[in-house]
Amino acid sequence: MTDREISSTRLPLVQRPRRNRKSDWSRRLVRETTLDASDLIWPIFVIEGEGRREPVSSMPGVFRQSIDLAAQAVAEAAALGVPAVALFPNTDPKLRDEKASVALDPNNLVCRACRAIKETAPDIGVITDVALDPYTSHGHDGLLSGDEILNDETVAVLAAQAVTQARAGADIIAPSDMMDGRVGAIRSALDAEGFQNVQIMSYAAKYASAFYGPFRDAIGTNKTLRGDKRAYQMDPANTDEALREVALDLEQGADMVMVKPGMPYLDIVHRIAETFHTPTFAYQVSGEYAMIMAAGQNGWLDEERAMMESLLAFKRAGAAGVLTYFAPRAAELLRDAK
Ligand code: PBG
Repeated sequence: MTDREISSTRLPLVQRPRRNRKSDWSRRLVRETTLDASDLIWPIFVIEGEGRREPVSSMPGVFRQSIDLAAQAVAEAAALGVPAVALFPNTDPKLRDEKASVALDPNNLVCRACRAIKETAPDIGVITDVALDPYTSHGHDGLLSGDEILNDETVAVLAAQAVTQARAGADIIAPSDMMDGRVGAIRSALDAEGFQNVQIMSYAAKYASAFYGPFRDAIGTNKTLRGDKRAYQMDPANTDEALREVALDLEQGADMVMVKPGMPYLDIVHRIAETFHTPTFAYQVSGEYAMIMAAGQNGWLDEERAMMESLLAFKRAGAAGVLTYFAPRAAELLRDAK
């Protein structure tokens, strides 16, 4: 073809979708989804000590911090507009046992962190995780008998754990254990103790995933975990089952539901949001964070853009918000972009 032939081509198009994309102002005008600091929940790891801050090697930029430093960091996140934090303890291995006794100790790391954060940053929501894995010697979320994770016995302990956390000031209880009937049991236990206003965000569709590896490093269960969690976490092959799990948790009193992991499960997020019209959250888990950071550090992709694009994708899929280790960094970028 000659240059003339190319340059004189005019297609008789009525619709040219590119017209709306021609400039920044126009792209902003037609944008369907937005990301805001209010969409971000920040998961943090706490350890014993004072002024202590140790890097999680498989999660560049993420630290386990003693309560004093964690509370300061949370206050900074609150100032950036992050509405809530989720607390995860790295319990001293010597304190872990078969029964997860420390889960019920009103002075455990999570309870102390909760009280400290309530003092330093009273306006941020505090989410505490209900599950036994940070406290068991075998690293499972429930009580173990032989090879079996006991359901009903575990639920009794989880309900008591939830009350212990509510007493420490937790605003939202987030059961991540995947035992049957735990949401109902937690709701009644909270109500019986006068915690009618404590919310429940259930990890309703939590899959048995390879993407949790770095998290298990962070809370120190990677080496001790006996076997895997497939007898309670969901099979990655299933989607109808996720809807049944959400339906059950809502019947039992969940105020919000969560899907986990995040990015490989956006179809699940979308289906749940469309079906239940209930606040649906997604957890961009440790492995997803590690992948973006590793590729960024190798210069294989633009880390910042990948981070913001992945977070926006959750919103587009229908998520009300995202639990993400990127929360403060993303909130800072969003503030600077204004
Ligand atoms: C366990 C729990 C896990 C995560 C949050 N709560 C891991 C697991 O099920 O072993 C994973 C979070 C992440 O990978 O970022 N109760």
